[in-house]
Amino acid sequence: MSATIINSLLEKTAAFTIEETLAFLANEYKDKVVFSTSFGQEDQVITDLIAKNDLPITIFTLDTGRLFQETYDVFHKTLKKYKKHIEVYFPEASAVENLLNQKGPNSFYESVENRKECCFIRKVAPLTKALKGNEIWITGLRAEQSENRNDLAVFEYDTNFKLIKFNPLLKWTLEEVQKYIDDNNVPQNALHKKGFISIGCAPCTRAIAPGEDIRAGRWWWESSHKECGLHQK
Ligand code: ADX
Ligand code: SF4
Repeated sequence: MSATIINSLLEKTAAFTIEETLAFLANEYKDKVVFSTSFGQEDQVITDLIAKNDLPITIFTLDTGRLFQETYDVFHKTLKKYKKHIEVYFPEASAVENLLNQKGPNSFYESVENRKECCFIRKVAPLTKALKGNEIWITGLRAEQSENRNDLAVFEYDTNFKLIKFNPLLKWTLEEVQKYIDDNNVPQNALHKKGFISIGCAPCTRAIAPGEDIRAGRWWWESSHKECGLHQK
């Protein structure tokens, strides 16, 4: 069933630009198309495309409560520039209170299990709420970001959240993303110029050295797959 829908979407949008595909999806799946932004470079390109074309696509962000000030700065700039509402999902206060009361504020450094628990409370549970009732989830995933991501498809069925994921920048290189940002004067996270490529929560993200893997700065103390549960296969 989902494979048929995906094949049909691929066929119908084969000759479309990204903007045309976004417009097509917004029209075909009225009010059920959402885009998740963490204000990273890729996400800023997609926000620009949605806002510029005034597409009826809901943009939302998961504010984990542990983001960098630079991320809040680009969030604020984005609101000012595009005048497009960005829906914020915040973790359940009681879940965060329990976690901190039981394990303290930095439990994620102590084990992969603890880290996943924090990611679940601060990201996955709010994401579940944000995606509820929707049919298309647009993301800024790129194949080149990691081994886990290089076999993704532009349209995918997400078995976890049970909807179709659209990854429009999947095949873009980092250089192409940067060029779009520069050419279109898109606001970007100031940390990108300080050696941060993939940016998540402040305590769990560090800058990378030239030549290091793009996601090496995420949960750098772990040797696990470096995914937080938002994107699973
Ligand atoms: S993560 O799974 O490791 O955190 P990553 O930072 O690479 O993901 O971002 C990939 C895509 O996931 C982004 O383009 C965005 O669509 C979504 N995403 C990640 N973090 C958030 C967030 N805090 N709020 C909303 N969307 C997010
Ligand atoms: Fe918690 Fe770190 Fe996951 Fe953010 S990235 S939700 S701080 S473990």
